[in-house]
Amino acid sequence: MNTWQGNPVALVTGSSSGFGLLISVELARRGFDVIAGIRRMEAEAVVMEAAAQAGVQGKIHCIRLDVTENDDVTEAAALIFRRHGRLDVLVNNAGTAYGGFVEEVPARIWQEQMDTNFHGMVRVTQAVLPIMREQGKGRIIQMSSISGRVGFPGYAPYASSKFALEGFSECLALEARPFGIDVVLVEPGAYGTPIWDKGFTQMSAAKRSPYQSMLEKVLAFSQKSARQGGDPREVAKLVAHIACMKRPAFRYALPRSTRLTLHAKALLPGRLFQNIIASVLKRP
Ligand SMILES: NC(=O)c1ccc[n+]([C@@H]2O[C@H](COP(=O)([O-])OP(=O)(O)OC[C@H]3O[C@@H](n4cnc5c(N)ncnc54)[C@H](OP(=O)(O)O)[C@@H]3O)[C@@H](O)[C@H]2O)c1
Repeated sequence: MNTWQGNPVALVTGSSSGFGLLISVELARRGFDVIAGIRRMEAEAVVMEAAAQAGVQGKIHCIRLDVTENDDVTEAAALIFRRHGRLDVLVNNAGTAYGGFVEEVPARIWQEQMDTNFHGMVRVTQAVLPIMREQGKGRIIQMSSISGRVGFPGYAPYASSKFALEGFSECLALEARPFGIDVVLVEPGAYGTPIWDKGFTQMSAAKRSPYQSMLEKVLAFSQKSARQGGDPREVAKLVAHIACMKRPAFRYALPRSTRLTLHAKALLPGRLFQNIIASVLKRP
């Protein structure tokens, strides 16, 4: 069924909702012992309810894991090693999404965005690498985004964090390969998870902002994307499939519209591609 011997063990960060919750359940269904990292212990009930509904309650265990907290991260890695003596798959999924226009986004928001999506991901990766390196095998699946490859107006904080994750992952893939550790990037477009009701809805322009009309267009585009977003189970199934594959590719983009956008960006001159993005945003 999968490439791992015995009872494989997976750690999924940000398991309280959205992709993380669905990925935890999918991995448990495929025989993994899943350590579901959650930053609010109240969310444990939600995770255990989803596990019970899927008939995998014995396979998912919640731990407190705020990726911005050093102690949480080191304790989580130590606990996994004490309990299981191994860690086969890490899914770096925890994330937040802040939007806004570069000139107007306060320093605190840039900081918070990078603390979670980039520094948090680095912290968790560093904590588990020694376990995977010692066992000579492991897989790190990175939840990137179309925003890790393409910049849209109003998405600079989020895109910056995901572009950073992409560069980090390209370097890590080569560093970790000699130790039998694969790194895989998953790049979803818009999917209907709770992320859209969190950071992006707080997006606003300053009073009498020169960006007001662009903001209205970007918000309308984001809301439409969120409404039309695909079924997040599609992403969870892909991640679980990647976790089980013998030789995964380095990048997976989905759905098809994301793949088309990435192809267009690779093939077209930069200015032409920007003109297309700008005209798509203008559409009613
Ligand atoms: N949905 C999309 O369209 C989309 C597209 C491309 C990529 N992604 C990426 O997919 C990943 C999951 O997002 P989602 O869409 O499933 O959104 P979501 O439902 O909001 O899930 C985000 C998860 O991350 C957790 N989290 C946030 N900050 C954290 C921290 N400091 N420490 C630990 N956990 C933290 C959240 O916990 P709380 O419940 O406590 O907030 C939640 O469990 C993110 O990396 C996101 O960038 C999403």
